[in-house]
Amino acid sequence: MLFREIHILEKKLNERKLLGNLRAMSIDEDRIDFLSNDYLGLARSKDLKISIDASFLNLQESNKINGSTGSRLLSGNHKYAEYVEQKLAAIFKAEAALIFNSGYNANLSILSCVPQKSDTIICDELIHASLIDGARLSFAKRLSFRHNDLEDLEKKLIHAEGEKFVVVESIYSMDGDMCPLESLIEVCEKYHAHIILDEAHSTGLWGNNGNGILCEKNLHDKIFARIYTFGKGMGVHGACICGSQLLKDYLINFARPFIYTTAMPLHSYVAIASAFDYLQSNTHERQALFANIDLFKKLFAKYNSSYLSLLQPSNSAIQVITTSGNERAKRVAAQLRNKKFEVRAILSPTVKAGEERLRICLHAYNTKKEIDDLTCTLSELLKHNDTILL
Ligand SMILES: Cc1ncc(COP(=O)(O)O)c(C=O)c1O
Repeated sequence: MLFREIHILEKKLNERKLLGNLRAMSIDEDRIDFLSNDYLGLARSKDLKISIDASFLNLQESNKINGSTGSRLLSGNHKYAEYVEQKLAAIFKAEAALIFNSGYNANLSILSCVPQKSDTIICDELIHASLIDGARLSFAKRLSFRHNDLEDLEKKLIHAEGEKFVVVESIYSMDGDMCPLESLIEVCEKYHAHIILDEAHSTGLWGNNGNGILCEKNLHDKIFARIYTFGKGMGVHGACICGSQLLKDYLINFARPFIYTTAMPLHSYVAIASAFDYLQSNTHERQALFANIDLFKKLFAKYNSSYLSLLQPSNSAIQVITTSGNERAKRVAAQLRNKKFEVRAILSPTVKAGEERLRICLHAYNTKKEIDDLTCTLSELLKHNDTILL
């Protein structure tokens, strides 16, 4: 039995090697960061660290300062966790917020337990793996609609049975483009469908105090549930689901990734609260990020006029250059890394075959020179790789 299992593992890894998409971990080298999700630079902010340390010191009278000791339903709850949840509910203009150890856990939680067997989950085809995995764990019927195509969504909604749940992201993680929220809400209202919105890549970046695109558009009352993550723009860790008190009570009772896991340590709650306090009094990182996004698009157009169609439309920190084929995407990414730019290729099957790409993440701390050098180098490499292919 064990021997057979090992054989299968090897076989599957060899298949990946042959397809050129074997995954491996690496340690960051000293390259220019166009890769991480630390869009605002808060993960490396000394000022934020000082305020996290100070708040944490203030809570030292508490026990459980190193570990939480259990699930929040057993010994792992803390009054400070409840305080942070109230704070988050106020920031995200929701009746209630429930904190999860990660965005992955939050997505697994809500999708696996809210839709029931007789219900239908309808997902944008480009949603994140964590939402797909959550939907897979549910007993509901699962459908998908073409990316951002509301006509296709409507076709699926017409025939959908039971309670209908439409799952989208405000900024799509692999494409960096936005969900057309206003029109999506209109379509969903027509069919009484509930929207589950993942704001992982807009949390901290859009909205007052970083409260995301939905709140910025003042549409927060129109959506059943929203997921905000803190490991990207907020520079810390964890996530929360915002919605009604009823939803929160339900998740506490039925969300297995919430119930059957050790709660985050106190320090993580302090970090989340401090990061939001920091954003409230600091806007320069967000201004710098959005200026860098504009600059990248301008310079890419300047140096790459013959390759402009490869740059996908995106106003977010995630910029995508499609380079069909795993080999080509990997080659350009490796050449960029040789030139000290940390950029990764996104390969199939993570994206559809033919849509392999370079995914460039912009940050508040990227300098003008770094962005100029990157876009200029890209023009040489794209030309060079075209010649190789001929
Ligand atoms: C859209 C989206 N949702 C959820 C997650 C998971 O969040 P976390 O990293 O906090 O587990 C990610 C992570 O990449 C993501 O891109």
